[in-house]
This record gives sequence, structure tokens and C-alpha cells, in this order.
Amino acid sequence: MRNTWVIGNWKMNGDLAANAALLKDIVAASFSGSANLAVCVPFPYLAQAQQALAGSRVLLGAQDVSQFEQGAYTGEVSAKMLKDFGVALVLVGHSERRSLFADIDEVVAAKAWAALTAGLTPVVCVGETLEEREAGQAKTVVLNQLKAVADVVGAQGLTKCVLAYEPVWAIGTGRTASPEQAQEVHGWLRVALADMAVAQIGILYGGSVKASNAADIFNQADVDGGLIGGASLVASEFLSIAAAA
Ligand code: G3P
Repeated sequence: MRNTWVIGNWKMNGDLAANAALLKDIVAASFSGSANLAVCVPFPYLAQAQQALAGSRVLLGAQDVSQFEQGAYTGEVSAKMLKDFGVALVLVGHSERRSLFADIDEVVAAKAWAALTAGLTPVVCVGETLEEREAGQAKTVVLNQLKAVADVVGAQGLTKCVLAYEPVWAIGTGRTASPEQAQEVHGWLRVALADMAVAQIGILYGGSVKASNAADIFNQADVDGGLIGGASLVASEFLSIAAAA
């Protein structure tokens, strides 16, 4: 039985007051579903979130991590620093990092390795652009992104990761992948993982997940929950999505 996750990715959103209200509402809901919950908050708010989530079942996540351990890397945040704030998991290779901040496959793999080395769970994000999909390259793209990480962390490392398939064309667009489209890609990833003798790890879907569409996607055989952007900024929506997992 695979673990199911619903992870909120706040992206570069929030402030101390809004965060306090959102986190309070999420914790106060005393979610009783089976999914593992987590929220990935911007670095400046890790301490606030750590305190707000203390004693709850909601795990704290980060949205990025340095590939380097420590030293003269201005602006970077190391995996060890994230551990200092009780972070349990960290996104690596989110498409916005790949497209806007030059997180190429090799960097994503190094970040996953740094996270694993510090005892964090990497949430490895893969996904194709609309152009790649329309060119029939979706399978090649996502499997190459997975392979780049597997080549560095190995099968043993992958068993400690969570995967997230986020079609770039569905992120923030309201254009959600259909359940069938999601299942197709998750199926490719599942077969690739089996070929690497990687135990059953969670594969999450991300890209315009809402309370209204979550159940149909999460009910797919190889979908193990979701990575939620905009909808994670509203407690009731995030919890409704979590209940669907
Ligand atoms: O990491 C999750 C994010 O990329 C999805 O964003 O707003 O489409 O749910 P959104």
C-alpha cells in the first residue's frame, strides 16, 4: 500500500498575518483523512510554520534546497538549515525552478541527493511543457527527468523520494490534466520505477487541482495524491482536496 500525500506549495505567497490564519485553520480542522499532509512555505516563514504546526499531523516542507552543504554560496539555504526548522520534505525540480532559475536536470539531481543526505524527503517534480506534449515528447521528457535523478541517488535513494508529475501547461492555468492524461503519465513513471526495482513510492499529480476535480484524479490507479498550488492558500479548499485523497 503506497503512502498518499496532499502537499501544499504556497510558492512566493503569504505574510505573517495571513500565514497565521491559514495555518491555524488547517491545524484546527483536525483532519481525519488517510493522506499525509504537508505545506511547503517560503523560507522566511519556516520558523512561524514550524511553531504553528507543532503537535499537528501536518508536516513542514520547503520549496527548494541548495545542492551545496555549506559555505560561500550567497543566498542559498542548505538541507541542514532546513532540518534546523523541522522541515521534513522539500520540493526539488519544480517546473518554475527549472524554467525561471536554471535548475537543470543535473542540479535537480544534486539537490535531491543533498536533501536525502540530510534526512529530508525530496519531492521530485517532473513534467512536460505544452510544446513538448504537442510534439509527442511528454513520455521522453518526464522519464529523462526521472532518470537524471535516479542516476545520482540510485534506486535506494529513489525509494526515499516522492514523485510529483506536474504538466507545466496545467500549472496555474486552470487547465487541469484529465484523469486519463494524469494516469497515462503516472503509469509511465510507475513502470520506469518498477524497471529500476524501486519500491512503491508515491506519485502525486499537480496542476490546477481543486476540490471539484481532485477525487476524479486521485481515484486513478497510479495517482497517490496531489501537489497543490493556489488552492493550498485557502484552508477549506486545501482540506477538501486532502479529504478526496
Ligand atoms: O507545485 C504545485 C503547483 O505547481 C500547482 O499549482 O496553482 O496549478 O495548483 P496550481
